[in-house]
Amino acid sequence: MAAPTSAMGLTPSTSLADALHLRRRGDTSLPPPPRKWRGNRPPTLCSRYVQTCRYLVERKAGRNVFPNIFSGIHGVVGFVRCAAVISRILTGRMDPSAAFGLANTGLAYFGGRLFALGEPDLPYAVHLSPSGDITTMGRWDFGGKLSMGTTAHPKKDPITGEVSAFRYSPVPPFVTYFRIDAEGRKQPDDVPLFSVSQPSFLHDFAITENYAIFCDIQIVIQPLQMVFGGGFPFGTDAGKVSRVGILPRYAESDRDIRWFDVPGFNPVHTINEWEEDGGATVVLVAPNVLSLEHVLDKMELAVSCVEMVRIDLKSGVVSRTPLSSGNLDFGVINPRYLGRRHRYAYLGLWDPQPMVAGVVKIDMEKKGGDCVAASRMYDPGRFGGELIFVPAPDEGEGKDDGYLVTFLHDENTRKWSFLVMDARSPDLEVVAEVSLPRRVPYSFHGLFVTAEDLRAQRGKS
Ligand SMILES: [Fe+2]
Repeated sequence: MAAPTSAMGLTPSTSLADALHLRRRGDTSLPPPPRKWRGNRPPTLCSRYVQTCRYLVERKAGRNVFPNIFSGIHGVVGFVRCAAVISRILTGRMDPSAAFGLANTGLAYFGGRLFALGEPDLPYAVHLSPSGDITTMGRWDFGGKLSMGTTAHPKKDPITGEVSAFRYSPVPPFVTYFRIDAEGRKQPDDVPLFSVSQPSFLHDFAITENYAIFCDIQIVIQPLQMVFGGGFPFGTDAGKVSRVGILPRYAESDRDIRWFDVPGFNPVHTINEWEEDGGATVVLVAPNVLSLEHVLDKMELAVSCVEMVRIDLKSGVVSRTPLSSGNLDFGVINPRYLGRRHRYAYLGLWDPQPMVAGVVKIDMEKKGGDCVAASRMYDPGRFGGELIFVPAPDEGEGKDDGYLVTFLHDENTRKWSFLVMDARSPDLEVVAEVSLPRRVPYSFHGLFVTAEDLRAQRGKS
């Protein structure tokens, strides 16, 4: 079924600072916590399914209809379900262009629209009303200019508002890069990366001011394994040498891409990237999956180590530095510095994967040793989702002046809350915790949108 979209629906007239009044600790310069809500409007919590084509078909059928390509085709039921879908398409009872995507992986806001994203499918535009409700506006093909899936991790340049994105495919071209302008118009000059000779799992990428950066990793797509072997469509290729590709953001073809071998570097996500030495050096920071053999079928044993990879574009020399011994992923930074040199990153601590048991702040400018600058473990039995960095409204020069927010679940009491931490404080102090009236499932990725963004949302056209 289509996955739910959950939003901590702070209404447009309600600021995060208002929400902090719900519960505040430690800072004596602030007013005491009020006994009840004092904002202009109370915060709202709204949970809605994204009305994907898949969701509508399965809701009408009252059962699962489509196989899930990410979890694979398993057993007789999986094959029957797959055969039934093919039969419906061949007999004209199902439109294959309507797609089977879930829109359950990430959220992005650009060009005045909020999108729910799942990489096998087109984006789904959703709308947040002033009352905090969520409406699916539909599958979004950018005026017919986008016909295939899109990464759930598009990158919005914080200065220009332009968006860089890509799609990957089990058939050539295996990776295609494209751009969307600040007004939300997809640009026509797609760049197929024909230099990628094998379909691989490319879940995330990165941008700097001038480059788009792709990690060609050892997790590969094996569609024949799924069809004829039955099972997961992804596998590992121990003989493949991982590499990092650096493509000028405005390249017209992949003639301009340069690939650098980085053996054993297998990041699923990136954290941030930037240029140094006047653009002669590209720096990439990402959690490297060390135990690749576990990541697909024994996730709880998987270990990720945050690494800084420096690539000298003139000499081709690649140097690598581990930044922490912690098992970390889901890294975020202050989004105002995406693609620019930035000091601090915040990551979830796996214990074990996929349970996020705490948060770790990494100092990317620290030289030598473990670069952990601060950390906070949640109480025993409590686990969080992905962290989101919300810049403080009156952000200073510190670049980490803001809040870390996440949903938190207590496995013992089965209670959910929305947690707010001070990103600058030495122990990532909890400054607010909002009890939630109902369950918010653990999820992949989320997004914080401002009241200004919500007011600027566009309609269907
Ligand atoms: Fe992701």
